[in-house]
Amino acid sequence: MALKTLRKKMGIRSKFVIMLGAFGLIALLAMGYGAYWFSLRRTMAEAETKANVIFSYIMAQRAYFNQYQRPLINALVEKDRFYPELMSQFGITRRTLDLVKDELAGYIFKQAAMNPMWPDNKADLQEEKMINTFRSNRKIKELDGMLEKEGKTFYYMAKPVRGVGKYCLRCHGKVEDAPKDLLEVYGKKAGRPWKTGEVPAAYVVYVPMDEAINDARQTAAELFVIGAAIMLVALFGIWLFLDYRIVKPLTMLSEMTEEVSIGKNMDRTLYSDRMKDEVGTLAKSVDRLRVSMVKMLKRRQGD
Ligand code: HEC
Repeated sequence: MALKTLRKKMGIRSKFVIMLGAFGLIALLAMGYGAYWFSLRRTMAEAETKANVIFSYIMAQRAYFNQYQRPLINALVEKDRFYPELMSQFGITRRTLDLVKDELAGYIFKQAAMNPMWPDNKADLQEEKMINTFRSNRKIKELDGMLEKEGKTFYYMAKPVRGVGKYCLRCHGKVEDAPKDLLEVYGKKAGRPWKTGEVPAAYVVYVPMDEAINDARQTAAELFVIGAAIMLVALFGIWLFLDYRIVKPLTMLSEMTEEVSIGKNMDRTLYSDRMKDEVGTLAKSVDRLRVSMVKMLKRRQGD
């Protein structure tokens, strides 16, 4: 009810400015959200590129190890000897990436396994899910997306470790087959028994996103505040314009017409220089009416 009476009492100027303000606010909110969404999408695309770069390096390093280093190492080292720093491809990758961590602060690289040789490689619940997805669908070559980890947001990219063959089972199969040195370092239960053909693990790269998300939020908020400031100035300008060109001339015209209707100031013109555009046309028409009325009255008096 109160709103209805308020709406009735409100002048054309207030209604117009409020309507424009409401549309402007909706547009600003949409713009802010759009800016946030676009910059988030852009940072996700950037994170994907970064993860791809890291993966390319890792895979190249592993290919080099397999092709050139492993045959030599196997020929040089005695059967029961095992030096993880030299002979475990996954161990080398882990150690190399541990060294890179200082440079790439916040990034995480993990060779997450269900039953790992190295305890820190144990998959957490989210990584177990990824490994299970790779296990249940052999066609999936990659998973990616956003996730929360220890209160932080990350973009992740995961690829399956496939191709567990006889070669792997020497260390990841039966205890009897494993090099004695390996059992001493890692224990008898760790990292086995795996089966040929299974997906025991996944490589996962985590790219930190918190900073990018905060930046996106800040950009959106800045855009909103600047837009709102511009809109307020524009609305004030519109208010002044309406006041000067429409409301005041109309009020004047209506007051003068009222005077004429009660027989006051009948000879004064209703048109003023302030009345322009449609208001001016209206004032001229009403003034013509006044002139006709005055003529009619004079004729009557003459009769
Ligand atoms: C000569 C022994 C040996 C062979 C052969 C071997 N691994 Fe391993 N593997 C290890 C050791 C030792 C580690 C732990 C490295 C470390 O310290 O991070 C490991 C770690 C891993 C990991 C990381 C998760 C974990 O368990 O800690 C994966 C995945 C893995 N190996 C897969 C394979 C696959 C697949 C093959 C066959 C292509 C293979 N390994 C062959 C010894 C071996």
